[in-house]
Amino acid sequence: MNKIVKKAIIPAAGLGTRFLPATKALPKEMLPILDKPSIQFIVEEAVASGIEEILIVVSSNKNSIIDHFDYSFELEERLKQKKKMNEFKQIRKIADMVNIQFVRQKEPLGLGHAILCAQSFVGDEPFAVLLGDDIVMNEGGEPAVKQCIDAFNKTNSTVLGVQKVSDDVVHKYGVIDIDAKLQSDKSIFKIKGAVEKPSKEEAPSNYAILGRYILKPTIFAELKKTKVDIRGEIELTNAIMALIKHESVYAKEFIGRRYDIGSKSDYAISIIDEALKNPETKEEVSKYIIKVSKELGKK
Ligand code: G1P
Repeated sequence: MNKIVKKAIIPAAGLGTRFLPATKALPKEMLPILDKPSIQFIVEEAVASGIEEILIVVSSNKNSIIDHFDYSFELEERLKQKKKMNEFKQIRKIADMVNIQFVRQKEPLGLGHAILCAQSFVGDEPFAVLLGDDIVMNEGGEPAVKQCIDAFNKTNSTVLGVQKVSDDVVHKYGVIDIDAKLQSDKSIFKIKGAVEKPSKEEAPSNYAILGRYILKPTIFAELKKTKVDIRGEIELTNAIMALIKHESVYAKEFIGRRYDIGSKSDYAISIIDEALKNPETKEEVSKYIIKVSKELGKK
């Protein structure tokens, strides 16, 4: 029988240079999408997918992430005194949601190295990896990582969450080389390779790996053998390529609206979309968007 995916790793050690000066003192994972830090969306997706234990890999300036998932004694007491019980419950829930641990990545050696920092947490179980720059909303449907876990349960193999992207952005992602689609489920592909950040010409397909992975502990041996690349990083994609030589690897085309919140424009769009969903803000923001659209239409 397959082992069940119960653990997840969330790498959160990056510098966030694209969002300076906001990220000078604030971890990029704490930048809010309207009123919720982006990392909370990621944790909630993992919890809604059946994950029971999470390891967040942090670096030295990320203590506010640890505080965010902890009890906040002073704030909670004040909210209770002021009888703001809804707010109290809301922030308590964040800390009680799931068992979260933290480990520090001591050197900035990339995603593959961040995952190596989690080896003892993982033990010999399959595990999920969720990247904080990729926020996927799928209201009314299964969360993205749950869809990948289901694909893992079908294939008992490593699964990479993918979606189609346009030619002009393939250079930002790991891109898969498809071998064949699964007969029983056309959204699952067996893959024969993957290339990290290829040029448009080199890209083997338009399917980009978008921040959701189900990995097996066999990845650790490959990560340990993976050399630091020209960017000075141990690339997870390169370790997966090595793994493909002796293990099946699949990709799952997941359903959901995905935001690349590492890009300023997609980050702004994610906030607008949240504001249009939120009962507190949707009316005013809708009116404003209609007004601005008319003005833009006149130009
Ligand atoms: C990382 C991975 C890449 C993946 C991307 C998804 O790149 O290395 O394969 O496609 O995340 O967001 P990064 O964005 O950290 O450079």
